[in-house]
Amino acid sequence: MVALTSILSWTSLITLVASAALPEPSTDIDVFSHGPKKPQPKCKQVLKRRAWHKLTNREKKSYLDAVVCLMNKPTKTKLPFAVSRFDDFIKLHQLQANRIHGDGWFLPFHRIQMARYEQVLRSECGYKGAQPYWDEPRDAGRFSTAEIFDDEFGFGGDGSGELGGPIYIYIYGLRSPITTGPFATYTLHTGPGYKNIPHCIWRQIADIPSSASAQQWIDRCMALSTYAEFWPCVENGIMPGSTFPPPPPGFLEGELPPWPPGNVSVFPGDGEFVFAISPHNGGHVGVGGEMGNPVSSPGDPLFYMHHTFLDRIWWMWQKKDLGRRVGDIAGYTSQTPLDGKWVNATLEDELDMMGIGGNVRVREVMDSRGLCVEYD
Ligand SMILES: *[C@@H]1O[C@H](CO)[C@@H](O)[C@H](O)[C@H]1NC(C)=O
Ligand SMILES: *[C@@H]1O[C@H](CO)[C@@H](O)[C@H](O)[C@H]1NC(C)=O
Repeated sequence: MVALTSILSWTSLITLVASAALPEPSTDIDVFSHGPKKPQPKCKQVLKRRAWHKLTNREKKSYLDAVVCLMNKPTKTKLPFAVSRFDDFIKLHQLQANRIHGDGWFLPFHRIQMARYEQVLRSECGYKGAQPYWDEPRDAGRFSTAEIFDDEFGFGGDGSGELGGPIYIYIYGLRSPITTGPFATYTLHTGPGYKNIPHCIWRQIADIPSSASAQQWIDRCMALSTYAEFWPCVENGIMPGSTFPPPPPGFLEGELPPWPPGNVSVFPGDGEFVFAISPHNGGHVGVGGEMGNPVSSPGDPLFYMHHTFLDRIWWMWQKKDLGRRVGDIAGYTSQTPLDGKWVNATLEDELDMMGIGGNVRVREVMDSRGLCVEYD
């Protein structure tokens, strides 16, 4: 595997295409709540997801305003420690972190999480557009100057923490709150990791790890022909035939980042992570802070820009052989064995949405057209 110096890792629109004249579904979210036997929903409209840098300032502002709205609304799921509606989506990810990473559910779960977030922004916060995505290869290797961190028409800037020491300490160890942009005053109540400690959104932008977002690392995944090969490449840069160190015991059960800040030593006796170069890790590690945390990363609204970007990659890959690939699933249903056993992922598996709309089968999320979204 190509190595950036050992840094860190974790294993781990607004164009309405169809007739805008049609009335919107009364509750968008019901569209996704059908059972597996019922027919695919007919789309009243198809949401076209576009790259952030292609939106007008007005479109950007309307999206950011809707996210702030979500942060100001109370939780509906009332999951433990959830305070805001925005928290509901963090909890969804936090509480299932071991089921939705490092296994076959990785891409299906995040696809439906993006769709539900988009629908709630629309149905509860008056957002009219589609969920945008961050075209990360444009900014690979230079996240610190990316326009997405704009204070007015973006997600705000870097964390204010002091830099210094090995880079892996920055990313997991430093309390580095953002101080500018629309989310600077927001208090998270979920995270870091499995903890639930009120804190501001942390970031620790790191240009070198962000070079993992370059097009070449996408291209090598796109050239693979099965989901069994494709998903590990996207998630953790694992190429066919290569191996990746398994997470050490207790990795996901632990408290990340350490509190108070200190060294992270997940590989015993090593003290460093292996940085796995992949489209997934580039965005997470390049932004750092909340985003660098495999469990509570949806605490930074950029999470949705990043995972929509990854979802687009999956869809582009599926479209290369659509008939076969919308039915291609592989991998297990968890990152570590459950009750000592591995279970293969299948199309019939039910994804638990923890009260954010109904649960769905993997089958129902395999084809983006069934979710009434498309990409530019
Ligand atoms: C981190 O680990 C290094 C190497 O063991 C050590 O020198 C340093 O003091 C540690 N830093 C903290 C904050 O614990
Ligand atoms: C799980 O999937 C693997 C790889 O496709 C396969 O070899 C194995 O037989 C499957 N196990 C079960 C119980 O279906």
